[in-house]
Amino acid sequence: MFSESERDRRRCRFFDEAAAGWEERNYPPEIMARTEELIAGLGIAPGLTILDAGCGRGVILPVLRGISGPEARLLALDASASMLEGVAAKDPAALAVFARAEEIPLIDSYVDLVLCFSAFPHFSDHPAVAREFFRVLKAGGRACVLHLAGSEMIRRHHEGHFAVHGDCMPDAQGMLAMFSEAGFSRLTLIDEEDRYVFSAFKP
Ligand SMILES: C[S@@+](CC[C@H](N)C(=O)[O-])C[C@H]1O[C@@H](n2cnc3c(N)ncnc32)[C@H](O)[C@@H]1O
Repeated sequence: MFSESERDRRRCRFFDEAAAGWEERNYPPEIMARTEELIAGLGIAPGLTILDAGCGRGVILPVLRGISGPEARLLALDASASMLEGVAAKDPAALAVFARAEEIPLIDSYVDLVLCFSAFPHFSDHPAVAREFFRVLKAGGRACVLHLAGSEMIRRHHEGHFAVHGDCMPDAQGMLAMFSEAGFSRLTLIDEEDRYVFSAFKP
């Protein structure tokens, strides 16, 4: 079992309790269509090893499988066991990894792509997560942090929830500095009202 602070435990309980019916509540067809469009825009090559960090019920796994094909290895990581219970139904071949993004139980240089969709603000130690993304990526690999909303809307959305209150994206300068310090290069960030797309490469 991994180490957690009281705040992490409260957040984890919140997501455990939210797991049943998560997709039905949060991913109606129009949101799913926008999600597919966002991920398709990344130009993911087939056959990659991909880590979905903060995967929840595995909502984006079918999208990733559709793009990356049967040869791709999909790893779905989350700190909520109840969320992870949904993964097998989304992609029976995906490996569910019960862990925190701050302590990823993978060897160095193992994955080609880390995708973090709609989860980064909830991680309690952002610099540690950036360092872990760097460590598990192969040279030339890419980390992407994605949302269907900009950072200001994300902040307002979480404000109203006791368990996730204060879960924000770092500001643009902080995000770029954090990933640079972790070792990444070729950093780009789009932070608009309806999307957040951060991308960084391991040299
Ligand atoms: C808003 S949900 C999004 C889930 C999924 N990506 C989606 O779009 O449906 C955020 C997820 O992050 C997970 N999470 C929170 N803190 C985490 C951590 N430190 N490490 C890994 N997962 C974490 C939660 O359990 C939850 O499943």
